[in-house]
Amino acid sequence: MKNICAIGVGYVGLVTGACMADLGNRVVCLNRNQQKCDNLKKGILPIYEPGLEEIVQRNLKAGRLSFTTSYDEAMEDAEFVFVAVGTPSGDGGEADLAHVEAAATAVAKRIHQPIIIVNKSTVPIGTGDWVAGIVRGAMPDPNIPFWVVSNPEFLREGSGVYDCMNPDRVVLGSTNREAAKRVAALYYPLHAETIITDLRTAEMIKYASNAFLATKISFINEMSNICESLGADVKEVARGMGSDSRISPQFLGAGIGWGGSCFPKDVKALAHMASTHGTHPQMLRAVMEINRDQRKRFVTKLRHILGGFRGKTIGLLGLSFKPNTDDMRDAPSVEIINLLLYEGAEIKGYDPVAMENARRILGDTVTYCQDPYEVAEGADALMLISEWNEFKQLDMERIKKSMRRPVLMDGRNIYDPRRLRELGFTYRGMGRGYDEAGQPR
Ligand SMILES: NC(=O)c1ccc[n+]([C@@H]2O[C@H](COP(=O)([O-])OP(=O)(O)OC[C@H]3O[C@@H](n4cnc5c(N)ncnc54)[C@H](O)[C@@H]3O)[C@@H](O)[C@H]2O)c1
Repeated sequence: MKNICAIGVGYVGLVTGACMADLGNRVVCLNRNQQKCDNLKKGILPIYEPGLEEIVQRNLKAGRLSFTTSYDEAMEDAEFVFVAVGTPSGDGGEADLAHVEAAATAVAKRIHQPIIIVNKSTVPIGTGDWVAGIVRGAMPDPNIPFWVVSNPEFLREGSGVYDCMNPDRVVLGSTNREAAKRVAALYYPLHAETIITDLRTAEMIKYASNAFLATKISFINEMSNICESLGADVKEVARGMGSDSRISPQFLGAGIGWGGSCFPKDVKALAHMASTHGTHPQMLRAVMEINRDQRKRFVTKLRHILGGFRGKTIGLLGLSFKPNTDDMRDAPSVEIINLLLYEGAEIKGYDPVAMENARRILGDTVTYCQDPYEVAEGADALMLISEWNEFKQLDMERIKKSMRRPVLMDGRNIYDPRRLRELGFTYRGMGRGYDEAGQPR
């Protein structure tokens, strides 16, 4: 059992803190917001993450997990401090390190015994050294040893708990191998492949991984656009490509592209680092450009079908940036809604869990509905934005009857084009080729 302090109770900090407690450690999670903290003490979570509530409640009850707004309390017994604060995009695309700096300074001021600072936030290459400098300058007794270990996080929102407990790999970077090995020991019960390297390499592994995944999606989206022009079906193309073990089927789903709290800011930050250090990140720029175009392309296709949006009602299914999360950060839905509103459309929408967060961003520009059937009522078109399971087996006959015009835009290619055509829908997927009559699907 180790004493851990986790700073930041978002998708990474809360999941990591709760999982570390579940593995038998004593974890104090630090959060700056009193209301959030009071709720967490009662087992009420600020985010939606499948399975997390149960783990938090179990470990609260067992006394291994606690929450505080006080750095003094959080740091009292801490042997390890996990930093999992946000690193959003700055104005020029760089990662904004203000939260990391604030956390490092607050931690440093309270160091009273040897400590390992484990950085889980995604941070620019060189940040570990920078944090060590901040800590050295702010700690009251410079003779107390401390170490900084980079431990980038690879969990996916929507399966964060599973990913945290079953990581493909644990990456640890430090100038001190012993410190990295002590962090590795925390993960020992998970039996994951562990890669111990230097600080900068660990930080780069995270950016390179996210950039590669975003590249895979932008690649298949470019293929999807080519398929659309030439009459091939990108779903089959992806299946054929993905069964090659060198390629793998993961991240080959053509659609309206990536969003969320990580890929957009991380690809941007990596491109920014590259260009400010004398490299021309031409592939990263293309990856971002393809992604931006994909959302516009989706709207353009619908404009062609409806002949414009003025006076038209468009229903959106799914608002979060992907299924199984309530996260609306850089969700494609927001840009698509703004494009449609700009051209005079009325918007209705529904999401299984992200409605509250959506309302915070979109306000009353959207009519929020109780379920997909209410979205369809009187709509001129439905746009499937995020592929929640509950959208996969809808009663399409009921939907068609209630729509003003049965147009279905499948932004994630989850429906069978032939079946929807037979039901009388005008259906458009992404890169689905031509149907038997030579029409786009
Ligand atoms: N969300 C993901 O799927 C994911 C996956 C891998 C890595 N990451 C990275 O992990 C980091 C955190 O991401 P997230 O999605 O959990 O962010 P988040 O916004 O959900 O959570 C960040 C938390 O940090 C808190 N915070 C900020 N400054 C603080 C301070 N000085 N002291 C205490 N708390 C503070 C915020 O209040 C918030 O609760 C980012 O760098 C992100 O890129 C995220």
